[in-house]
Amino acid sequence: MRVHVADHPLIAHKLTALRDKDTDSPTFRRLADELVTLLAYEATRDVRVEPVDIVTPVAPTRGIKLASPKPLVVPILRAGLGMLDGMVRLLPTAEVGFLGMVRNEETLEATTYANRLPDDLSGRQCYVLDPMLATGGTLAAAIRYLVDLGADDITAITLLAAPEGTARLEEQIADLKVPVTIVTGAMDERLNEHGYIVPGLGDAGDRLYG
Ligand code: PRP
Repeated sequence: MRVHVADHPLIAHKLTALRDKDTDSPTFRRLADELVTLLAYEATRDVRVEPVDIVTPVAPTRGIKLASPKPLVVPILRAGLGMLDGMVRLLPTAEVGFLGMVRNEETLEATTYANRLPDDLSGRQCYVLDPMLATGGTLAAAIRYLVDLGADDITAITLLAAPEGTARLEEQIADLKVPVTIVTGAMDERLNEHGYIVPGLGDAGDRLYG
């Protein structure tokens, strides 16, 4: 598993505003949207492309276009929905599938309550969207689910991650044979006893949707 922590002053600036407990929901949603577009730029560095011949007003030339099958973008409900617009702005032709997952706040175990994905993901490149990688349980289950359906390349985009959760995720998916990349806006200090990222930003779902 490859982990890429974005190192960019604009991302750090927007994350600072996002973390602030006095930032209201509309501003939080706008910042999350802007952050995803910046992170998606990095996350799509290895998006699959194929050559295409075109003619400019001056001369024929060869360029590239997104390869088929198109990438699949999977926001994890509910909080991942706040990252979808920012992602598809960059990849407008991507297909979108949905996974609804919730973490039990006592056991911290993730369960799936909704699934709207293509039945067969053979050969598909997938981009999973979830603002928080806390204990890593949600992403581990989501990634395993996509690989079971045939996905052969997975990149997860998170706004924040915790070191313990990132290590646990790596352990939990160590047996998978597909490349997995995590692109995150920041690697925070730790998890607290309630499984919240510290300093974090609180509960992303609540801050997005109340
Ligand atoms: C939060 C967050 C992640 C998950 C991270 O979702 O959006 O999906 O917890 O935790 P983990 O890494 O410890 O699994 P939550 O379960 O609160 O659901 P929500 O998005 O509906 O608010």
